[in-house]
Amino acid sequence: MKKTLIAYSSRTKKTETMANYIAEGIRLSGCEVEVKPISAIENEEGISGYDCYVFGCPTYHKDMTGGMKQFLFKAQQAQLVGKFGGAFGSHTHSGESAPMIFETMQHVFKMDMTDLGPLNLTEEMVVSDEGLKACQAYGKALAEKLA
Ligand SMILES: Cc1cc2nc3c(=O)[nH]c(=O)nc-3n(C[C@H](O)[C@H](O)[C@H](O)COP(=O)(O)O)c2cc1C
Repeated sequence: MKKTLIAYSSRTKKTETMANYIAEGIRLSGCEVEVKPISAIENEEGISGYDCYVFGCPTYHKDMTGGMKQFLFKAQQAQLVGKFGGAFGSHTHSGESAPMIFETMQHVFKMDMTDLGPLNLTEEMVVSDEGLKACQAYGKALAEKLA
Protein backbone atom coordinates (compact mmCIF):
# COMPACT_ATOMS: atom_id res chain seq x y z
CA MET A 1 0.00 0.00 0.00
CA LYS A 2 1.24 3.49 -0.89
CA LYS A 3 2.35 5.49 2.12
CA THR A 4 2.33 9.26 2.69
CA LEU A 5 4.25 11.36 5.21
CA ILE A 6 2.57 14.55 6.37
CA ALA A 7 5.14 16.66 8.24
CA TYR A 8 4.08 20.00 9.71
CA SER A 9 5.06 22.92 11.87
CA SER A 10 2.34 24.67 13.90
CA ARG A 11 2.43 27.14 16.77
CA THR A 12 -1.28 27.48 17.60
CA LYS A 13 -2.52 24.21 16.01
CA LYS A 14 -4.32 25.56 12.92
CA THR A 15 -1.83 23.99 10.54
CA GLU A 16 -1.83 20.87 12.73
CA THR A 17 -5.61 20.72 12.28
CA MET A 18 -5.13 20.94 8.51
CA ALA A 19 -2.57 18.10 8.68
CA ASN A 20 -5.05 15.85 10.46
CA TYR A 21 -7.91 16.66 8.05
CA ILE A 22 -5.71 16.03 5.01
CA ALA A 23 -4.70 12.70 6.59
CA GLU A 24 -8.40 11.80 6.98
CA GLY A 25 -8.90 12.38 3.24
CA ILE A 26 -5.94 10.16 2.41
CA ARG A 27 -7.13 7.37 4.74
CA LEU A 28 -10.70 7.58 3.38
CA SER A 29 -9.18 6.84 -0.04
CA GLY A 30 -7.53 3.69 1.29
CA CYS A 31 -3.92 4.88 1.49
CA GLU A 32 -1.64 4.79 4.52
CA VAL A 33 -0.50 8.04 6.09
CA GLU A 34 1.71 9.12 8.99
CA VAL A 35 1.30 12.60 10.48
CA LYS A 36 4.30 14.02 12.33
CA PRO A 37 5.37 17.40 13.70
CA ILE A 38 8.73 18.32 12.17
CA SER A 39 10.17 18.41 15.71
CA ALA A 40 9.69 14.60 15.83
CA ILE A 41 11.83 14.02 12.73
CA GLU A 42 15.53 14.02 13.63
CA ASN A 43 17.20 13.48 10.28
CA GLU A 44 16.74 12.41 6.65
CA GLU A 45 16.28 8.77 7.71
CA GLY A 46 12.99 9.81 9.28
CA ILE A 47 11.92 11.24 5.94
CA SER A 48 13.03 8.54 3.47
CA GLY A 49 10.85 5.60 2.44
CA TYR A 50 7.46 7.14 1.67
CA ASP A 51 5.70 7.39 -1.73
CA CYS A 52 4.21 10.84 -1.14
CA TYR A 53 5.19 13.87 0.97
CA VAL A 54 2.96 16.68 2.19
CA PHE A 55 4.66 19.47 4.13
CA GLY A 56 2.76 22.13 6.07
CA CYS A 57 3.69 25.38 7.78
CA PRO A 58 1.87 28.57 8.86
CA THR A 59 3.02 32.03 7.76
CA TYR A 60 4.66 34.22 10.38
CA HIS A 61 6.14 37.59 9.38
CA LYS A 62 5.54 36.77 5.71
CA ASP A 63 7.78 33.72 6.00
CA MET A 64 7.82 30.04 6.89
CA THR A 65 9.07 29.17 10.40
CA GLY A 66 12.77 28.72 11.17
CA GLY A 67 12.04 25.11 12.10
CA MET A 68 10.55 24.43 8.66
CA LYS A 69 13.61 25.96 6.97
CA GLN A 70 15.83 23.54 8.91
CA PHE A 71 13.48 20.65 8.12
CA LEU A 72 13.71 21.40 4.39
CA PHE A 73 17.51 21.04 4.56
CA LYS A 74 16.95 17.57 6.09
CA ALA A 75 14.42 16.77 3.36
CA GLN A 76 16.96 17.77 0.72
CA GLN A 77 19.27 15.05 2.08
CA ALA A 78 16.47 12.46 1.74
CA GLN A 79 16.60 12.62 -2.09
CA LEU A 80 12.92 13.07 -2.92
CA VAL A 81 13.40 13.41 -6.71
CA GLY A 82 10.29 12.24 -8.59
CA LYS A 83 8.24 11.58 -5.42
CA PHE A 84 4.67 12.86 -5.38
CA GLY A 85 3.92 15.82 -3.12
CA GLY A 86 1.80 18.66 -1.82
CA ALA A 87 2.09 21.54 0.65
CA PHE A 88 -0.28 23.40 2.94
CA GLY A 89 -0.52 26.07 5.61
CA SER A 90 -2.76 28.31 7.66
CA HIS A 91 -2.48 32.11 7.61
CA THR A 92 -4.52 35.26 8.20
CA HIS A 93 -3.80 37.61 5.29
CA SER A 94 -0.69 37.06 3.17
CA GLY A 95 0.06 33.32 3.30
CA GLU A 96 3.58 33.11 1.81
CA SER A 97 4.62 29.90 3.54
CA ALA A 98 2.70 27.14 1.68
CA PRO A 99 3.57 28.42 -1.83
CA MET A 100 7.24 28.82 -0.86
CA ILE A 101 7.41 25.24 0.43
CA PHE A 102 5.56 23.96 -2.63
CA GLU A 103 8.04 25.73 -4.94
CA THR A 104 11.02 24.37 -3.03
CA MET A 105 9.65 20.83 -3.32
CA GLN A 106 9.02 21.33 -7.04
CA HIS A 107 12.11 23.20 -8.18
CA VAL A 108 14.81 22.29 -5.65
CA PHE A 109 13.86 18.72 -4.72
CA LYS A 110 12.50 18.04 -8.26
CA MET A 111 9.40 16.35 -6.87
CA ASP A 112 6.25 15.55 -8.86
CA MET A 113 3.93 18.09 -7.22
CA THR A 114 0.14 17.95 -7.34
CA ASP A 115 -1.57 20.01 -10.05
CA LEU A 116 -3.79 21.42 -7.29
CA GLY A 117 -0.92 23.59 -6.04
CA PRO A 118 -0.52 24.39 -2.33
CA LEU A 119 -3.54 24.29 -0.01
CA ASN A 120 -3.35 27.75 1.54
CA LEU A 121 -6.25 28.43 3.96
CA THR A 122 -7.03 31.34 6.25
CA GLU A 123 -7.33 30.26 9.86
CA GLU A 124 -11.03 31.20 9.84
CA MET A 125 -11.51 28.76 6.98
CA VAL A 126 -9.52 26.02 8.79
CA VAL A 127 -12.02 25.89 11.66
CA SER A 128 -15.08 25.88 9.37
CA ASP A 129 -16.87 22.98 7.69
CA GLU A 130 -15.68 24.35 4.37
CA GLY A 131 -12.08 24.15 5.57
CA LEU A 132 -12.50 20.58 6.78
CA LYS A 133 -13.92 19.62 3.38
CA ALA A 134 -11.17 21.45 1.48
CA CYS A 135 -8.48 19.61 3.47
CA GLN A 136 -10.15 16.22 3.08
CA ALA A 137 -10.59 16.84 -0.66
CA TYR A 138 -6.90 17.73 -0.97
CA GLY A 139 -5.96 14.48 0.81
CA LYS A 140 -8.34 12.44 -1.35
CA ALA A 141 -6.98 13.96 -4.56
CA LEU A 142 -3.41 13.16 -3.51
CA ALA A 143 -4.34 9.57 -2.65
CA GLU A 144 -6.22 9.07 -5.93
CA LYS A 145 -3.20 10.19 -7.93
CA LEU A 146 -1.00 7.87 -5.86
CA ALA A 147 -3.21 4.81 -6.31
C1 LIG B 1 3.40 37.50 15.24
C2 LIG B 1 2.55 36.96 14.12
C3 LIG B 1 2.89 37.22 12.81
C4 LIG B 1 2.08 36.75 11.74
N1 LIG B 1 2.43 37.05 10.46
C5 LIG B 1 1.61 36.68 9.45
C6 LIG B 1 1.91 37.06 8.11
O1 LIG B 1 2.92 37.69 7.81
N2 LIG B 1 1.04 36.65 7.14
C7 LIG B 1 -0.09 35.93 7.41
O2 LIG B 1 -0.82 35.60 6.48
N3 LIG B 1 -0.38 35.54 8.67
C8 LIG B 1 0.43 35.90 9.69
N4 LIG B 1 0.14 35.54 10.98
C9 LIG B 1 -1.04 34.70 11.24
C10 LIG B 1 -0.75 33.21 11.34
O3 LIG B 1 -0.24 32.73 10.10
C11 LIG B 1 -2.04 32.44 11.65
O4 LIG B 1 -2.44 32.77 12.97
C12 LIG B 1 -1.95 30.97 11.48
O5 LIG B 1 -3.24 30.41 11.49
C13 LIG B 1 -1.13 30.30 12.57
O6 LIG B 1 -1.03 28.93 12.27
P1 LIG B 1 -0.66 27.84 13.38
O7 LIG B 1 -1.80 27.77 14.33
O8 LIG B 1 -0.49 26.57 12.63
O9 LIG B 1 0.60 28.29 14.07
C14 LIG B 1 0.94 35.97 12.03
C15 LIG B 1 0.63 35.68 13.37
C16 LIG B 1 1.41 36.16 14.39
C17 LIG B 1 1.04 35.84 15.83
